[in-house]
Parts: sequence; structure tokens; C-alpha cells
Amino acid sequence: MIGQVWPITQFSLNDLSGLRQLSLAQNWPHSSEDWLTILRSGNVFGHRADSGEIVSSAAVIPYGDSGSVQSAALGMVIVDSKARRRGLGEALVREAIRWASNSQPPVPLSLIATLIGLPLYEKLGFRTVETLHKFVAPTNVPTSAVTSHANDRRLAPLDERLTNTVIDLDAAAFGYRRDCLLGHRIDQAKTGCVLFEGAAATGYGLLVRQGELAVLGPIIAPNDDAALAIVAALTANSDGPFRIDLPARQKSLFPVLESLGFEEDDKPPIMLRGVKETAARPKHYYAIAAQAFA
Ligand SMILES: CC(C)(COP(=O)(O)OP(=O)(O)OC[C@H]1O[C@@H](n2cnc3c(N)ncnc32)[C@H](O)[C@@H]1OP(=O)(O)O)[C@@H](O)C(=O)NCCC(=O)NCCS
Repeated sequence: MIGQVWPITQFSLNDLSGLRQLSLAQNWPHSSEDWLTILRSGNVFGHRADSGEIVSSAAVIPYGDSGSVQSAALGMVIVDSKARRRGLGEALVREAIRWASNSQPPVPLSLIATLIGLPLYEKLGFRTVETLHKFVAPTNVPTSAVTSHANDRRLAPLDERLTNTVIDLDAAAFGYRRDCLLGHRIDQAKTGCVLFEGAAATGYGLLVRQGELAVLGPIIAPNDDAALAIVAALTANSDGPFRIDLPARQKSLFPVLESLGFEEDDKPPIMLRGVKETAARPKHYYAIAAQAFA
């Protein structure tokens, strides 16, 4: 391995276009709006070549109560193909680990790996705890096939008055508060809905456009039937193709999604460092927000 060539730089909103170029060059579908959400919600850093061109990136998104970080997601780890195998990727992941270890108290880091990233993360102490199942529906989803089994269930469009309700619901299901990230992701989302059972809000879902693709998530729901009702509400008035990423523990929903036209596309590992198990991610967390926000 050749030593690290450039120092790590902190990126800002001014770097949005350079960061988008970098992810597009890997054929990653992230839009400018995705990068805006990431830059506003976390710590984005990487390397610049002598020319000023951004040749690497990583994003750490902190979660927890305001003023007290309890966990963080590592995402958008990219080294441009012309700068690989020179230690830049390792330097980025070590920087994220240093940040997490220096937090008071030290916090766990989570991520969703690609096949090419897996050896790097394993080398630096990340362990696979579960698999993420990525599904894509090439066309519109026949939502009329989804029938609700609950009489007192109602779905309301997500508007500003329900934002805090959604953020509280999310914290209960996800295990950590994600106020900052969710606030920006809700702004970015084209469609969102909140599930009520009687007077109580018990679930929600977002639909975020990524170019042609409509990404469904996060989806929080009390059970499979309710999660499907949210999928149906989100897809009813939107054009596909649709994508939804669910952790393996939601496998009881997979055959139903397949019957609606979703096909499994990829199965990347969910990895953790600094915590032994997945207890913080209970059953009600159905679809993740995006690979960068593990
Ligand atoms: C994964 C990635 C970030 C690695 O960046 P990099 O700068 O080339 O990695 P480094 O040079 O720091 O490599 C560090 C270690 O990772 C492992 N590694 C990196 N690339 C590897 C590869 N292609 N095959 C096997 N191991 C690899 C090796 O253990 C390496 O240590 P070594 O060089 O001493 O053997 C880069 O390949 C990339 O951007 N890929 C496309 C985007 C992506 O998939 N990102 C991961 C998201 S989860």
C-alpha cells in the first residue's frame, strides 16, 4: 500500500456538486437533494487532489438526543477509481472510527457495506450483524391487491403538523432519535403518510425521488399488515420504478412484496462496530431510509 497522499478535508454545502460528481462516477444514483440532506445532517469529509478535485468522501450521521450523540451511521464511503488502493479509503474509515471513539461516551458506528467495501470494514473491526434485502418494482404496484385487516386504521398525508409525531415514532422504533436527519429527509420527500389506529399514530412512511426511482423508506409500522398499508398508500399515486430496502428480520413481508411485482436486487451486509448485537433495532423498523443512513 502506498502511503496517504492528501490530508482529510471537511466538506461543506459549497462542495455539493463535486460530491455528486464523485458518486455519479461510481454509478451511484444519489441526487443533489440526497447530498444536500447528507451535508445538512452530518459530518462529510474526504480528500481533494492537488487540482482541487474531490477524490474521496465519507459521511458520519450522528443520532441521539440533542447534545448527546448515542450512535452514528457511516455512509457514502467512496474513493474515485483513479485513487484507489493507496490507503485513502482506510484513512476515511479510521477517521470515522476516531470520531466515534472520541465521542463522550464512545458511540457505535453502523453501515451497509458493498462487496468491494467489505474487506476494508472487516479489517477495521466492523462485524456483519444482518443482511439488508433490496427490492425493486419495475413498474407501478397493484396496490388494490393490498387489503387492510384493521377496521380502525386510517392513513393521513404527512404534513408539518405531524412532523414531530413522526420523529417521536421513529425514535421509538429505531432506538435513537434522528431529529436532524429526518427533518431534512421529510423536507426532501415528495410524499409521506402517517398511520393512525384509533387516535394513536402507530406508523409512517416516506417516498423520496431519486431521479426516475421512487425510494420507499423509512417505513415504521406496528406489524406486516400495517407496513403493507403504508407501502400501498405511498405507491398509490406515484409512478415507479419503486425501491424498498428491508432488513432480513422483515422476511415475512418478502413474499407479499414479490406478489406485488417487487424483485430482490441485492443483499448487502449490515455492519456494526462498537456494539455486540442489534437489540437497538426492533421489529417495527421495516424499511430503512437509505443505505447511507444505516
Ligand atoms: C471500498 C473503497 C472505498 C476502498 O477504497 P481504497 O482507497 O481503494 O481502499 P484502501 O487503499 O484504503 O484499502 C484499505 C484496505 O481495504 C481492503 N481493500 C480495499 N480495496 C479492496 C479490493 N478491491 N479488494 C480487496 N480488498 C480491498 C484491503 O484490505 C486494503 O488494505 P491493503 O491495501 O493493505 O491490502 C473503494 O474501492 C471504493 O470507493 N469503491 C466503490 C464505492 C464503494 O463500494 N464504497 C464502499 C461503500 S460501503
